[in-house]
Amino acid sequence: MGKMYRTFLVGFLQTMVIVWLAGRTLGQDSFYFNPHPKGQTVINGHSVILRCNVSNTNHIVFCWTLDSHPVLNGTRRFQVGSNLYITRVDRRKDSGEFKCIATNVTSGISLASQGAQLDIQWISDVAEVQLHNPPREKDLVPGRELVLRCKADGSSNISYEWFHNGNKISRSNRVSIRHRRLHIHKLTLEDNGIYSCRGVNEAGVLESTNNFALRLKSKQVPCILKLPQDVTVRKDDTAVFDCVYENAVSVQWYYHNKEAILHNSSRFIVYPNGSLVVSRVRASDEGIYRCVGISASKDVPQQAYVAHLKVAFLRDITEDSFEPPVKSGEKTVVPQNGVFEIACKHPVGHPKPRIWWEGPDGKVISDAGHVRVDGTRLIIHAVALSDSGFYTCTAENIAGQKRYSVDLYVSGKLIKCALLGSSLSVHCYNLV
Ligand SMILES: *[C@@H]1O[C@H](CO)[C@@H](O)[C@H](O)[C@H]1NC(C)=O
Ligand SMILES: *[C@@H]1O[C@H](CO)[C@@H](O)[C@H](O)[C@H]1NC(C)=O
Ligand SMILES: *[C@@H]1O[C@H](CO)[C@@H](O)[C@H](O)[C@H]1NC(C)=O
Ligand SMILES: *[C@@H]1O[C@H](CO)[C@@H](O)[C@H](O)[C@H]1NC(C)=O
Ligand SMILES: *[C@@H]1O[C@H](CO)[C@@H](O)[C@H](O)[C@H]1NC(C)=O
Ligand SMILES: *[C@@H]1O[C@H](CO)[C@@H](O)[C@H](O)[C@H]1NC(C)=O
Repeated sequence: MGKMYRTFLVGFLQTMVIVWLAGRTLGQDSFYFNPHPKGQTVINGHSVILRCNVSNTNHIVFCWTLDSHPVLNGTRRFQVGSNLYITRVDRRKDSGEFKCIATNVTSGISLASQGAQLDIQWISDVAEVQLHNPPREKDLVPGRELVLRCKADGSSNISYEWFHNGNKISRSNRVSIRHRRLHIHKLTLEDNGIYSCRGVNEAGVLESTNNFALRLKSKQVPCILKLPQDVTVRKDDTAVFDCVYENAVSVQWYYHNKEAILHNSSRFIVYPNGSLVVSRVRASDEGIYRCVGISASKDVPQQAYVAHLKVAFLRDITEDSFEPPVKSGEKTVVPQNGVFEIACKHPVGHPKPRIWWEGPDGKVISDAGHVRVDGTRLIIHAVALSDSGFYTCTAENIAGQKRYSVDLYVSGKLIKCALLGSSLSVHCYNLV
């Protein structure tokens, strides 16, 4: 409270000084920020509005700065009236201090607001499990201590969970979890298997993709020679998991945490060399597969390693995939010589799709020239009448390809624009 009052007072005094100076030379400037832009907590990728206004808007124009650089209007971040809209917060591009600048165009007096920072919550795209102690895998022997680290980056507090062969690990007198580290004391052969982790914070949930395989050795105990690997396949394709043990009389496969052994059937085959082949993969086949090495002796601990089966998919590109959004069946009208800018967001898919733009001639648009792309954005500066046509955003991964065409119409006549503010006012949807 005290702090707010103080900053208000400072802002107020600054205003008074400027007003007083202005009054001596120019006349009667009298305005103060109401409201000042406020810092906010926002999740990376979500939208936010930074609000700004002044007490008296006569002759006043607004602009915004980020760390003293002007904020230019774009598809993702733009000014509407005196407020700044961010449709998809980007933790790299939106970090820093935003200020709202109000200028009296008649008197030339300019005031800067208090700074506002976004507290952006985020979590990285990939996580992995790293061996922390001992530093080398060959130093891992029964009786020693194992420390694994979950490498998942993000803002604020990430809480971590650990899994052994897909089963959640709980703390015990031998196992502790401290922040991002898993400690296991006095290792035994029963600890062998795949260790994975999961990080959770306000921005989401992240599962590790590079996991750690613990392979302690002992005479007579089956020892894994070839680990099954995680696979992503298309629906109806074939998934193969290899699994080779030394000292094992046979290999058994299990699905999920079920105790029923997978036997040869119309779609599942377990070969004598240990490989499991799943054919005509369905969505219901997704999950964790466990390969168990069976020993000749009943007295040795069971050895098991898991791998994930995922089915690739790619969702459609829709009207809402664009920034600013387009309307299906309607032309996107741009005045001649205007700037046209549109971003195509990554459609949801696994693996992450690749995105590109194709021009009216069907050719892929490069990152240089009059019509160019910057990341997933299509940009045309000084739009010419001949730029009219279909521009297609295309996304592709192993599940297939999705396309959506934006019908660009370049108008030589005056048109009415639907979107307020920003250079986006050139994105007009209806001719009048
Ligand atoms: C802006 O300046 C003009 C000319 O000095 C003055 O008449 C007007 O009141 C000022 N506006 C504000 C909001 O102070
Ligand atoms: C900004 O403040 C002025 C004067 O106080 C008010 O008339 C106007 O409606 C406000 N604008 C917004 C967008 O709140
Ligand atoms: C993280 O958690 C600790 C302990 O729970 C807490 O003291 C700290 O304030 C939290 N930090 C953030 C940024 O939330
Ligand atoms: C399963 O089928 C494969 C391939 O036909 C064969 O080699 C293997 O012996 C079969 N396994 C069993 C247990 O019958
Ligand atoms: C095991 O046998 C199958 C069928 O012959 C083959 O596809 C697979 O590659 C073999 N696996 C290994 C690890 O050699
Ligand atoms: C962005 O657009 C707003 C509203 O049209 C305008 O007032 C502002 O000056 C523009 N900013 C820049 C840097 O062009």
